[in-house]
Amino acid sequence: MSLPKLHQESIVSHVGVGQDPAYGSVSTPIYQTVTYQHPGGELGRYDYTRTENPTRTGLSEGLAALEGGAGATLFSSGMAAIVALFHLLKQGDHIVLTNDVYGGTYRVLVDVFQHFGLTYTFVDTRNLEAVADAIRPETRLVFVETPSNPLLMISPIRALAELAHQHRARLAVDNTFMTAVRQRPLELGADYVVYSATKYLAGHNDVLAGALIAQSADEQDRIHALANSTGGVLAPFDAWLVMRGIKTLAVRLDRQEANAQRIAAFLAEHPQVARVFYPGLAQHPGHALHRQQASGPGAMISFQLRAEHRYADFMNALRLVLPAVSLGGTESLITHPFSETHRELPEEVRLALGIRPGLLRLSVGLEHADDLIDDLAQALDRLKG
Ligand SMILES: Cc1ncc(COP(=O)(O)O)c(C=O)c1O
Repeated sequence: MSLPKLHQESIVSHVGVGQDPAYGSVSTPIYQTVTYQHPGGELGRYDYTRTENPTRTGLSEGLAALEGGAGATLFSSGMAAIVALFHLLKQGDHIVLTNDVYGGTYRVLVDVFQHFGLTYTFVDTRNLEAVADAIRPETRLVFVETPSNPLLMISPIRALAELAHQHRARLAVDNTFMTAVRQRPLELGADYVVYSATKYLAGHNDVLAGALIAQSADEQDRIHALANSTGGVLAPFDAWLVMRGIKTLAVRLDRQEANAQRIAAFLAEHPQVARVFYPGLAQHPGHALHRQQASGPGAMISFQLRAEHRYADFMNALRLVLPAVSLGGTESLITHPFSETHRELPEEVRLALGIRPGLLRLSVGLEHADDLIDDLAQALDRLKG
């Protein structure tokens, strides 16, 4: 039965539903099996779980529908999905990337792919001229995080896709901070969307997962073959956890975003806070552009303390917000990018970008906004004097 075009809320709440041919169970079962019987020697749809698994299929079909992609290949972590994306390239190819990408993306290029002959240039992808200048004849990929991590910089997806295509390169967007419920890069011309599904998609800080979604079916087949060859696929139970989490994605984001909007306004007025980075604030330099390409500002906020070197006092004083890396889950988490998520970047690069010791990144969770604001306020008060 074909359904009318559905809203994202309806798609997420039905991810994996109706996938069980044996008993019609509503929730897709966990097919905890490595292999499948083939009576008579005929290979069926399922053969070996590294290649395909029915629980993973339920999630990948749902994610592809949500994103508007040709399919979705699921990996054991966001990094495994990013590695698969880079594996689509060959020796001598060049990548242009957002200069404050997630530290792990930076690290895998420098520590791993550089040794296999991939080259790369980090630029401010907000600036089309800087991207055009960085593109070389051998550039095959432009890789963008928008909003970026941790500075929430906004890059123009449609214009970057056009620019990349003019040079026979492809555009990939790390959509981890937004998800397809807020931003659909493939509709704006991107060729790939990559996820740490560990974050908002799964949403509960309890499972590592990644996804790579392509615009074209041929590319998706290549990615699927790569996943099967390299083996970093998502396990059935982990696929089930992501599937269970994703059903509430739309409502979680609504609430987390409403909380974040209030918290960002509170921080922007606070005397101990020098600067707030949040695309939902009118003073954010990417505010207007973000509104054109996304339907909400998300729930990630970064802010700079005036008492630059007292970040540890501030973090230790928090009672409700947990000091931990990661983001996008039900619990609010605070991270110190300078020493944690972005420590891989050379110090001079961090400082030049604005990833300073006083910068904190807050992933706003589902607690009551008043409680979160009270907690932040009492910890900021400790910095007085
Ligand atoms: C924007 C972004 N992309 C990718 C990753 C890597 O994902 P994972 O930790 O699931 O490997 C992260 C992790 O924090 C991230 O924040």
